[in-house]
Amino acid sequence: MHENTTNITGQKESKFSLETENLNVSFSGRNAISDISIKIRYNSITAIIGPSGCGKSTFLRSLNFMHDLTQGSEVTGSINVLGKDITDYDSTEIRRKVGMVFQKPNPFPTMSVFENVIAGLSLNGFRMMRNKYNDIVEEALSKAGLWDEVKDRLKVSAMSLSGGQQQRLCIARTLAVSPEIVLMDEPTSALDPKSTARIEETIHEIKSKYTIIIVTHNMQQAARASDYTAFFYLGKLIEHSKTRNVFTSPKEKLTEEYITGKFG
Ligand SMILES: Nc1ncnc2c1ncn2[C@@H]1O[C@H](COP(=O)(O)OP(=O)(O)OP(=O)(O)O)[C@@H](O)[C@H]1O
Ligand SMILES: [Mg+2]
Repeated sequence: MHENTTNITGQKESKFSLETENLNVSFSGRNAISDISIKIRYNSITAIIGPSGCGKSTFLRSLNFMHDLTQGSEVTGSINVLGKDITDYDSTEIRRKVGMVFQKPNPFPTMSVFENVIAGLSLNGFRMMRNKYNDIVEEALSKAGLWDEVKDRLKVSAMSLSGGQQQRLCIARTLAVSPEIVLMDEPTSALDPKSTARIEETIHEIKSKYTIIIVTHNMQQAARASDYTAFFYLGKLIEHSKTRNVFTSPKEKLTEEYITGKFG
């Protein structure tokens, strides 16, 4: 069921860039997430919180088709991405629309800063004139908040950057292919407070153009950086609401116990 609004040309347009209905993912017959029904708005930041093993990464990975690479996994229910069922996309197309940033910065180690930013373009089947690359690299690095720090050393190995810079480089690599949805799985958990703050700033700066979902174990980060928060527990979505409401007046006792640190 989509909640629709009608635009000026009379076409139905959803307010939601992502919708799942009764989404289940299992590995070798064991459910990792059960009956997740959620709607995520365009240009919003959603934090996903919950204790280790509750299915946060599994949920995120289902949104860009990553489970089809995992043996023994089964996905049931529906996922609608940008108004279209996920099964109507091919895997290259979905990964172009839905970018992913992982917990551990994973730049390509043998490539330079510059090559890392454009790496996603060729992997995702983009064809363009080489002289366009300079513009794309500058734009992506600027959006990721890294341009000023690396503009004079684009040719150095990505591995010579600090951890926080490497993570922003990975964000730039993701943004270079112009995704509409950006998934981030604990993107700052390996970083110091300063780099974390810089990445939160980046997330805030790019929000107007993307739908962002960020998994985090850091309650302050969820409260600071997101518009909506979804609390997962044992594979289920327990509560999903505006971040302010989740943190000041959660509806569920479990949510309250989790955010106040009673377990987790
Ligand atoms: N590839 C896989 N094969 C088998 N089981 C898996 C696989 N990926 C996840 N699981 C299982 O699914 C459940 C959810 O795992 P998931 O990684 O989604 O949790 P998480 O909430 O991201 O945890 P964390 O906070 O520790 O990252 C766990 O029981 C895990 O063992
Ligand atoms: Mg995880």
